[in-house]
Amino acid sequence: MPKLKIEGGNLLTGKIEISGSKNSAVALLPAALLCKTKSKILSVPKIRDIEYLLKILEVLNCKYEIKNQEIEIDTTNLKNNPIPEELSEQMRASYYFMGTLLARFHHVEISFPGGCVIGARPIDLHIKGFEALGATVTLIKNKYIIDAENLTGATIHLDFASVGATINIMLAATRAKGVTIIENAAQEPEIVNVAEFLKSAGCEIEGAGTSTIKITGNEELDEGIIKVCPDRIEAATYIILGALIGQNLSIKNLNIEHIDKVLKKLSECGISYETKENEVIISKCKKILSTNIVTETYPGFPTDIQPPFVTLLTQAEGTSTVLETIYESRFKYTEYLKKMGATTITDQNLLTVKGGTTLTGAELYVPDLRGGAALVLAGLIATGTTYLDNISLILRGYEDIVEKLTKVGAKIEIIE
Ligand code: UD1
Repeated sequence: MPKLKIEGGNLLTGKIEISGSKNSAVALLPAALLCKTKSKILSVPKIRDIEYLLKILEVLNCKYEIKNQEIEIDTTNLKNNPIPEELSEQMRASYYFMGTLLARFHHVEISFPGGCVIGARPIDLHIKGFEALGATVTLIKNKYIIDAENLTGATIHLDFASVGATINIMLAATRAKGVTIIENAAQEPEIVNVAEFLKSAGCEIEGAGTSTIKITGNEELDEGIIKVCPDRIEAATYIILGALIGQNLSIKNLNIEHIDKVLKKLSECGISYETKENEVIISKCKKILSTNIVTETYPGFPTDIQPPFVTLLTQAEGTSTVLETIYESRFKYTEYLKKMGATTITDQNLLTVKGGTTLTGAELYVPDLRGGAALVLAGLIATGTTYLDNISLILRGYEDIVEKLTKVGAKIEIIE
């Protein structure tokens, strides 16, 4: 199994270009199936989740052509073939085929989605949404069978502003008869990106990015085109790295607004940085102050940035706390940070992080995608060599991470 070998201690300088957002792209590829003949998605990151989604598109008899970062998808001969479990279980986003195939064929058979093990992650809100549109949902063993004679627009109130449920209901509603209103919708930028794609294909959709989204069904969607928005989680990860070991490190091609809460937290920690239109320039902060973090839905502090931020907090002066409100078990990676010398205490969903600790290289296992990012950052600031096993989870979400970091001076390589 390949491993990441990281030699810590180098200052990083130069430019890191941010890729298209993973969480947006993984929704846009399934969304493309709503178009009758073709669609185009630009700025698609080359990551493992996309490779698996393309395999699912092949199963569904779609053709596609990849040119640089552009994917052109031909859905003319789309077929509702069963999606094998070994593909759907590779990632969380396979659940978006529920919404699109329900809209197109009124029948879906798909196994429970995979994804990082960071909590129970039920999909009850997605199911309730489909049922409100007129579908019946049966779970047999691990497989969902969703049927609808007709899909009819409805008002759906989400008990929690779930990203996945908001997008999935939006996708299913595109071809429902009449108007669907999603109340307490999630407001993440990725939702706006998917809505813009649907609009480009002819869908009437209003309010994406707010808590109320209105979708008017339309059977004739076609020729959608969109550029995937910049990956705000990737951007924030590298900005945090810049605060730890940057030397005028420039993080480019991002949307500053999308990471507003993270930048404000960095300022609160006494970290300074320069912002330009779509760029942040940041250097190592000599005196990082401790802080308290509460993860929230957008526009709050993102749960996906909680792990890398904790690596930063191990270097702060004083003690910080992190309250994780989105997932029940998202502190597994701290066991590995502790192996490197960090001092953290977990009490259910509250983490206490003692700052000012010296991290030392160690042999570690990547427990989940963002936890893996936290360990990469830790390896880069540690003394000595860190070896990370199970790195396929990191490659699921960070495009060319080794190349991007090597280019700015990091000593990091994949070894067999
Ligand atoms: C998406 C992101 C993930 C991010 C998360 C929160 C993708 C592919 N993944 O995941 O990176 O961490 O948003 O920003 O976009 N929940 C329910 N019932 C449901 C749906 C969700 O109880 O039907 C709960 C989940 O268990 C979790 C919370 O709601 O505790 C947030 O989930 P959700 O916003 O749906 O996240 P995902 O779409 O899975």
